[in-house]
Amino acid sequence: LVGAALAAHHLTSDTQYATVAAREFNYVTPENEMKWSYVEPSPNSWDFAAADQIVAFASKHNMKVKGHTLVWHSQLPKWMEELTGAEAVRAALERHVRTVAGHYKGKVYAWDVVNEAFSDDSKPVLRNSVFQKHLGEEFIAQSFRWAHEADPDALLFYNDYSIEYPGAKLDAVYSLVSRLKAAGVPIHGVGFQSHVNAADAPTNAQFAGVIKRFTDLGLLVNISEIDVSIGSKVSGDLPTRVTLQRNTYRSLVAACVANPKCHSVTVWGVPDKYSWLNMPEFWTWAGQGPHYPLLFDDSYGKKPAYDGVLDAFCGR
Ligand code: XIL
Repeated sequence: LVGAALAAHHLTSDTQYATVAAREFNYVTPENEMKWSYVEPSPNSWDFAAADQIVAFASKHNMKVKGHTLVWHSQLPKWMEELTGAEAVRAALERHVRTVAGHYKGKVYAWDVVNEAFSDDSKPVLRNSVFQKHLGEEFIAQSFRWAHEADPDALLFYNDYSIEYPGAKLDAVYSLVSRLKAAGVPIHGVGFQSHVNAADAPTNAQFAGVIKRFTDLGLLVNISEIDVSIGSKVSGDLPTRVTLQRNTYRSLVAACVANPKCHSVTVWGVPDKYSWLNMPEFWTWAGQGPHYPLLFDDSYGKKPAYDGVLDAFCGR
């Protein structure tokens, strides 16, 4: 599957966006619309309108849907962040996972069940989220179990970033999913966000090795949110950076294509102009833009990066 993150408001306002999305991709991730603050803005009060719009678009164009994301420390409504007490947090989490996964039962191919649970420290630990604080590590296994009960046919993924290359965070995620598998928790795979910078992206061999570690455990994998920044951290003139970007896309996507258990590659947006990396609040990337991170330029022309992805799928 070849996917893109899509936004409902662009589908409504930009016909070219919708046309290109339907023509080029057969898998869709709602970029924001299924997140907690969108679908459950106040306790047990639900708004699926924007997410449903994307699912309807996907179904009209024979595209599969990746649900994103049931449990994440970010983009939570304030009421959830401020909830206290293990019983209250457990009840709200269970209701959320069951309701959202239940609403999309039979309509999503896969779910990112738990997103970004680990910290970026040199010794990664589970982030100090409302879930971790009140429930401990058990919130992860429980979320997978509830999601599986609500939609037994959906593939269930753990999703994270900065795990595409060897390191402490990768080891922490590997150890978590190994324990989940051993305990019989219904987890089917791991997603690699792959938000990378062309200046220091993992190599094909590194990424292929990481993918193999997980598929050897009997898990599926996917590239869930790839974009390749060629902002100011990357040296050289623009044509040089554009070529490096093409090669980076090819090399990372090729690592997925080479492993039969890697079932999808999703880019985190369609034209450069709508990329989240260009939004000023992403402080980690601040001052490095413009990033030109995606496969289509601002007039929907195919960039060399597009050919890089195509080369990878064609084994060139
Ligand atoms: C980003 C969206 O692209 C932005 O529009 C939003 O403001 C913040 O979230 N990891 C994830 C995605 O799992 O959900 C994030 O998406 C990007 C990082």
